[in-house]
Amino acid sequence: MNKYQFTDADRFSVAPMIDVTNRTFRKFARLMTKKAMLYTEMIAAAALVHNKEYLIEHDESENPCTLQLGGSDPKTLAKACKIGEKFGYSAINLNAGCPSDKVQQGSFGAILMKTPDVITDCLKAMQDAVSIPVTVKTRIGVDDLDSTEYTRKIVESVYKTGSRHIILHARKAWLNGLSPKENRTVPPLDYQRVYDLKQEFSDLSITINGGILNIDDCKEHLNYVDGVMLGRAIIDNPYLLASVDSMIYNDGSAILSREQVFDSVIKMAHDFVKDGNRLHHLGIHTINLFNGCKGARHFRNYLSLHMHELGADESVLVNAYEKMQRV
Ligand SMILES: Cc1cc2nc3c(=O)[nH]c(=O)nc-3n(C[C@H](O)[C@H](O)[C@H](O)COP(=O)(O)O)c2cc1C
Repeated sequence: MNKYQFTDADRFSVAPMIDVTNRTFRKFARLMTKKAMLYTEMIAAAALVHNKEYLIEHDESENPCTLQLGGSDPKTLAKACKIGEKFGYSAINLNAGCPSDKVQQGSFGAILMKTPDVITDCLKAMQDAVSIPVTVKTRIGVDDLDSTEYTRKIVESVYKTGSRHIILHARKAWLNGLSPKENRTVPPLDYQRVYDLKQEFSDLSITINGGILNIDDCKEHLNYVDGVMLGRAIIDNPYLLASVDSMIYNDGSAILSREQVFDSVIKMAHDFVKDGNRLHHLGIHTINLFNGCKGARHFRNYLSLHMHELGADESVLVNAYEKMQRV
């Protein structure tokens, strides 16, 4: 594996999302796609190197899976990368796009876009520390630094490290005045700027992110860039993942029906609760599994009412399904 290059798995990724793409989510996602690149939630590199390795527990069945780190100190990031590699992650990604206040106070995330040299230093230290790929996820601009020239500067900060893969959320971040949620909707998407950069840096693989809703959108973007990354569309419609191996990776596999996926979820829930976990930690990821189907609202309502109950097990999922069927 060349650590500077895009891998086959990077053609389709599930975006890193705090409180969503945890281990339970990743195991749920793997019931539907074996090929997609999954990401962890962002993990602060400083926490990881200070004896918080439990934050990144992981096993081979989740791979391909990228560990996303937050940080701006090259040495700390390098140490965190080594821990990530030891845990068996497929790749490591630096978060240079998160605009939350907490992250800004730590001087990482989107604020890194203001200092492209720091991005370069961090990436170099991270690459030197491990033999797996190291990438960066960033936006196309920050505050008033929002021109094509500035995006090019950010891309160059990655390119000159030797890295040949970047993930670009196709909107800028406003660091003051917008919440992280607003920062995912208010600044307009500019896909064209990302496509143009791909033309300019033809040997750089670009993954595009932001506002991609379905497989058709993915295919359209893949005419212009190398990879697509989806976040909220997967939360709203996780079943989309069942089509990915066949429709994006063209692996010839059959697309599982929702019911087939649901059968696997029930088995997973049985084991999950038997292992001492609370059902709602899995239920939260499955609640939208039937979105778009008749009666999905009843499935969601029943699940959200009962999955938190003490002793809740897979029968709550079965009952939720029956409620939906009765409509
Ligand atoms: C709940 C939530 C949590 C997020 N957490 C992270 C994160 O930990 N790291 C990161 O780089 N981006 C994070 N993001 C941003 C997403 O990775 C993605 O860039 C953004 O949602 C735009 O993609 P989308 O339009 O497909 O959702 C988060 C987004 C959401 C909705």
